[in-house]
Amino acid sequence: MHPVFTPAMPGKRGDRLAGKVAVVTGIGAGIGRGIALMFAQQGASVVGCDIDAASAQATVDEAARQDLAIHSLHPLDLTQPEPVQRLIEQTVALHGGIDILVNAAAFGSFAWLEAMDYETQWRKTLTGEVDIVFLACQAAWPHLKARSGSSVINFASANAHMALPLSAALAHCAGKGAVLAMSRQLAMEGGPFGIRVNTISPALVETAATRRPLDHVPGFRDKVLEKCMLKRIGQPEDIGWLAIYLASDESGWVTAADFNIDAGATAW
Ligand SMILES: NC(=O)c1ccc[n+]([C@@H]2O[C@H](COP(=O)([O-])OP(=O)(O)OC[C@H]3O[C@@H](n4cnc5c(N)ncnc54)[C@H](O)[C@@H]3O)[C@@H](O)[C@H]2O)c1
Repeated sequence: MHPVFTPAMPGKRGDRLAGKVAVVTGIGAGIGRGIALMFAQQGASVVGCDIDAASAQATVDEAARQDLAIHSLHPLDLTQPEPVQRLIEQTVALHGGIDILVNAAAFGSFAWLEAMDYETQWRKTLTGEVDIVFLACQAAWPHLKARSGSSVINFASANAHMALPLSAALAHCAGKGAVLAMSRQLAMEGGPFGIRVNTISPALVETAATRRPLDHVPGFRDKVLEKCMLKRIGQPEDIGWLAIYLASDESGWVTAADFNIDAGATAW
């Protein structure tokens, strides 16, 4: 029987991001919510957004309960250039610049090839996983260039590296493969300006997006656990500690890198 460890140090405060301004997208749920709260706990000024106003407000309220301030624009649709521009401009107006961009928001639709609808599933997933990253990076870029040591954190996925049994992830694999490849290109374009761009590739993390298949697809949870060397499902905090490192000056020589945070799932 394997021991089961809970995520490390939930709620731990520090100053690893003191003085930094971070834009975090998708703060209403899962990984984006976890990162927004953990960045604020580490001293960053955080501006978030989400298309789902109620869930974003709940994150802002949770921050306030912890005596932290997170500013959020919601509802805000990151697949449209104008609202993205507004998010960036309001962050600069509020905090004077941007040091960190975390593109956690995403929308993915899951279906097997023959069942997938072109417009409402395939195209919507590529817009919700690829365009959403392009638009935010493009809008934030001049401000990231203006700061020294700025950092972009994008989310690829274990699905950018491998197919997972029982997972109808065709469009998601295409989207996350694209994020992985474009992040390397962005790192190359940003290097001369000191902008670092890295990706995190989580295996399955328990969030709003994954709870349904975990709880309702027969055999899915067991399959996921079987792949994890550490025999537990990942939580947003497991990802948050790496995001803090990548956002901070501690990772000043790290760019164009992809980090498998997956309890070993992609290593065997
Ligand atoms: N959870 C996982 O198992 C897992 C695994 C690998 C990669 N990822 C990636 O990590 C990132 C975070 O995943 P998560 O599971 O926390 O996601 P999630 O679905 O739980 O949360 C995503 C948030 O983004 C918001 N959002 C979606 N479309 C938006 C839009 N157009 N404009 C503004 N907000 C929008 C949603 O409302 C939601 O609050 C995503 O890029 C995801 O693909 C997640």
